[in-house]
Amino acid sequence: MHISLRQIRIFEAVGQAGSYTRAAEALHLSQPAISMQIKQLEKDTGITLFERRGRRMHLSSAGKELLRYASQVMHAYSDMLGTIDSMKAVSSGHLAVSVATTANYFATKLLAEFTAQHEGVTITLDVTNRQKLLDQLENHEPDLVIMGEPPRGYNLQSEQFMENPLVVIASPHHPLAGKSCLELPDVLGEQFIMREKGSGTRGAIEKHLSQYGVKQQTSLEMRSNETIKHAVEAGLGLGIVSAHTIQPEINSGRLVILNVESFPIQRHWHIVMRRGKKLSPVAKSFREFVCQEAPKFISVSEPQK
Ligand code: PGA
Repeated sequence: MHISLRQIRIFEAVGQAGSYTRAAEALHLSQPAISMQIKQLEKDTGITLFERRGRRMHLSSAGKELLRYASQVMHAYSDMLGTIDSMKAVSSGHLAVSVATTANYFATKLLAEFTAQHEGVTITLDVTNRQKLLDQLENHEPDLVIMGEPPRGYNLQSEQFMENPLVVIASPHHPLAGKSCLELPDVLGEQFIMREKGSGTRGAIEKHLSQYGVKQQTSLEMRSNETIKHAVEAGLGLGIVSAHTIQPEINSGRLVILNVESFPIQRHWHIVMRRGKKLSPVAKSFREFVCQEAPKFISVSEPQK
């Protein structure tokens, strides 16, 4: 009896997807090619692997047992490929990175420095909010993600590498701008311009305020930190943003940080991947680079005295 790696891969994909169509999509093969390989495997082994009920493929009890072996074989195979890769120098390869909208302020600088050090490496960068990053990780899309601490319950592995303080910002002409020490109730009556639902910054603010029994009303919602800063500068209200996003505006005096009780909200940046993912040498080296170098690429503004 001979079973090829191709047959094992196809059997594993159908077993996990429960359908020829989805397995075909995942493996970029045609559905008839998948069906033919499964029939051949059943013929070669003399074992019924699937019971067909309508359009769904259900693993037989023998199929379930063999799927465990198939997964182990594929796992070992992908480990072997990873090891072969890591034996080569990191002078080429592709890296798919996704970063939170807020992390983009330092992530692009990090990527620029990393590509300068590894000239043969190509990179795809996606910038989106926290919820979309979690969806991408679920779908195995990026190699690595830079975001706030990921929630439990997702099959993820993360490493904290830098602080991410969230501060209250105002226009220098705002009536609260000159006050040196503000209590929470002093600011809560103000109009706040907030990020969209699904943003990590927004989630952290809501969680923080709920600890004080407060639910801030949001009448102005914006999808980017840039628009929030412009709106605050124009006097539309106050904002709460990462201190990493406002350095130029603070330096030029277009925005000020208010000194508010319980602020800054202390958050951290994490570099995240799917648990157990075998990283390519480029991805591994980028992860180390981020953990060691990131703090050099940011400057954090302080509240006004
Ligand atoms: P953002 O931030 O989604 O608000 O851009 C990401 C995070 O803090 O996780």
